[in-house]
Amino acid sequence: MAKVILITGASAGIGREMALQFARRGDHVIATARRLDRLETLAQEAASLAGKIIPVEADVLNPADLQKAVDAADAQFGRLDIVIANAGLGQRGAIVDSAWEDVEAVLRINVEGALHTIRAAVPLLRKSGGGHIVMISSVLSLATGPYCAVYSAAKATINALARGLRVELRADHIWVTNVLLGQTHSEFAQVRRGQAGRVASKLPTMSAEYAASQIVRATDQRRRTITLRLIDRLIMWMGIFVPWISDRVLERFYKPH
Ligand SMILES: NC(=O)c1ccc[n+]([C@@H]2O[C@H](COP(=O)([O-])OP(=O)(O)OC[C@H]3O[C@@H](n4cnc5c(N)ncnc54)[C@H](OP(=O)(O)O)[C@@H]3O)[C@@H](O)[C@H]2O)c1
Repeated sequence: MAKVILITGASAGIGREMALQFARRGDHVIATARRLDRLETLAQEAASLAGKIIPVEADVLNPADLQKAVDAADAQFGRLDIVIANAGLGQRGAIVDSAWEDVEAVLRINVEGALHTIRAAVPLLRKSGGGHIVMISSVLSLATGPYCAVYSAAKATINALARGLRVELRADHIWVTNVLLGQTHSEFAQVRRGQAGRVASKLPTMSAEYAASQIVRATDQRRRTITLRLIDRLIMWMGIFVPWISDRVLERFYKPH
């Protein structure tokens, strides 16, 4: 049976790719973001695909917008199977010297945005008999990057929330997968706060198509946490087991020049 999926941040990058890949395999997607024109183009692009893409303008900082997206799933399909809290914003800059509005935006969009998304979606997941929540974290949540530590902190909060939700929602038959993503080609480096536009780093970068395909595949399984490449696992393990080396290495990649 076709699944119904709600994706935040579907106007660009990995979210957009996931929406197309789900529609290609016949699933229906409620695609949300702030840029409605982008979502409408995406829906047109999917017109000939097996599944539908329904665009819904929604700012993840506005719970009423997310409720509207969940209501669209209920009205169109009468159910919701998967929620992907994907919308996010990056940041570069020293913790103390970054503009407060950048720090606030990064913490709010990544953390508050994911919370509003999940809190809006869970009642319909429960009504549908269960489902799957996918949270998008980062390898930098475990290997805190100096000069992008506010972003690392926001994603470390996602790890904690994913862990708590997995236990709290087990009785509702709702599974939670946390994705520890590594560096991916998308608009992320162009729009991030602090040093927008600067090349991400010299670390190897995967395509948004590849990242999306791995996440879409993970929704068919019950995985707790996934990392998509060996390099991401190495960065993560270095951050956990030899943090003094990790700090030195990441400083070279992230320090402003
Ligand atoms: N790219 C990487 O290297 C990388 C690495 C690790 C983790 N991640 C994570 O992967 C996820 C997807 O990132 P990406 O690389 O695809 O980035 P992207 O290309 O910049 O896309 C970000 C998406 O988030 C949406 N968004 C931002 N603020 C929003 C808000 N207030 N309300 C609703 N939507 C909002 C944007 O849509 P609108 O602007 O239209 O609202 C856009 O669709 C993020 O959680 C990111 O932190 C990315």
